[in-house]
Amino acid sequence: MPPSTSLQGRLRLGQHDAEALAERFGTPLYVYDRALIESRYRSLDAAFSGLRHRICYAVKANSNLAVLQLLAHLGAGFDIVSGGELARVVAAGGDPGKVVFSGVGKSPAEIEEALRLGIHCFNVESAAELDLIASIAAARGVLAPVSLRVNPDVDAGTHPYISTGLRDNKFGVPIEEALALYRHAAAQPYLRVTGIDCHIGSQLVSVQPFVDALQRVMHLVDQLAEHDIHLGHVDIGGGLGVSYRGEQPPSAQDYVEALRPQFHGRQLQIICEPGRWLVADAGTLLTRVLCLKDNGDRHFAVVDAAMNDLLRPALYGAWMQIRETGDVAAEERLYDVVGPVCESADHLGKDRLLRLRAGSLLAVMQAGAYGFSMSSNYNTRPRPAEVMVDADQVYLVRRRETLADLMHGETLLPLTAAKE
Ligand code: LLP
Repeated sequence: MPPSTSLQGRLRLGQHDAEALAERFGTPLYVYDRALIESRYRSLDAAFSGLRHRICYAVKANSNLAVLQLLAHLGAGFDIVSGGELARVVAAGGDPGKVVFSGVGKSPAEIEEALRLGIHCFNVESAAELDLIASIAAARGVLAPVSLRVNPDVDAGTHPYISTGLRDNKFGVPIEEALALYRHAAAQPYLRVTGIDCHIGSQLVSVQPFVDALQRVMHLVDQLAEHDIHLGHVDIGGGLGVSYRGEQPPSAQDYVEALRPQFHGRQLQIICEPGRWLVADAGTLLTRVLCLKDNGDRHFAVVDAAMNDLLRPALYGAWMQIRETGDVAAEERLYDVVGPVCESADHLGKDRLLRLRAGSLLAVMQAGAYGFSMSSNYNTRPRPAEVMVDADQVYLVRRRETLADLMHGETLLPLTAAKE
């Protein structure tokens, strides 16, 4: 059930009252709704029906073990970018055989571990990386499954920080160079060429860039076949957007139907790597107003969540909806909602019309993706707790960090007493 408002004007997350959750678990608090994640996954899976497909959830969007466990339970594969994410997938009961390993810099240790666990394939981003994987596979006497991440040079029309398909960024192999690199790969005894992939950017709200990229990729697939290199899958990456502020992203159905014709008559499995689309709407960050203050003619609501808890507004100027959760008796004003971190960029939202008093509870919506997963301990702030609501149940899926957690692993110097 999407977040809703009760008859008394109180925010409900699934079947649960937001204020009651905040009182029970404290704030800041991430709340995820199992039913929403599940229905997103199922609707995408259903949209793909008739196509041989695999949904590899992009772990970076939200890597909480319970989220991964839920998706593994539904049959998802995973797109990972580090050995750490691979360890999480395994800890959550995910199948390494359904894992694709992306990222421009995989270390030898990470490659070794992925080979040991038998992942589905490495999404290789450069010639140097291909050779590194080949040499590690040779040393172990195993075949490494590889796919090249090609850069199709299409403009995803998204924020420059999260656009990845253009020529001048660090990702992928330029599509014109891919044929030669595939031929090189196919000639290596310890590499098995399994597929091709591209990821053109994130938060795309139109299908056209996906279609353009796939067209270029399919052209290359045909060229490869002429060189007797036959692929098993095409991975179209992630990137499907959500509505933060009235955007109208394509539905799962529209997205798949736009891609479907290009798979017609081909024996290719389609892989996709959605992150945001599966989890953003299912997550809410609850935060309490610590105090209200005015500087000149600006009104500030200082809340207990900050950029270390939710970085998107500070890092990208991302707009995220902030709403009251009840108790709206106070006077309405335009507020900058800011955190306690000592950086001018630290804000969750600017110029928001809200009715607030000290102690009011606010909810930042669509916070399920790139929320907790990008959080940090800057300013020695323990990270929030995370809970999952599931029908009438609530599960604490990550306890709030303690200061002892934050100092764990640090040591003091053996200084002798200072001389007079
Ligand atoms: N596959 C690859 C290779 C990726 O690099 C990404 C995201 C995805 C899949 C998943 O993309 P999605 O479906 O979530 O759009 N922190 C930013 C987003 C960074 C996305 C990085 N790569 C944000 O908060 O907007």
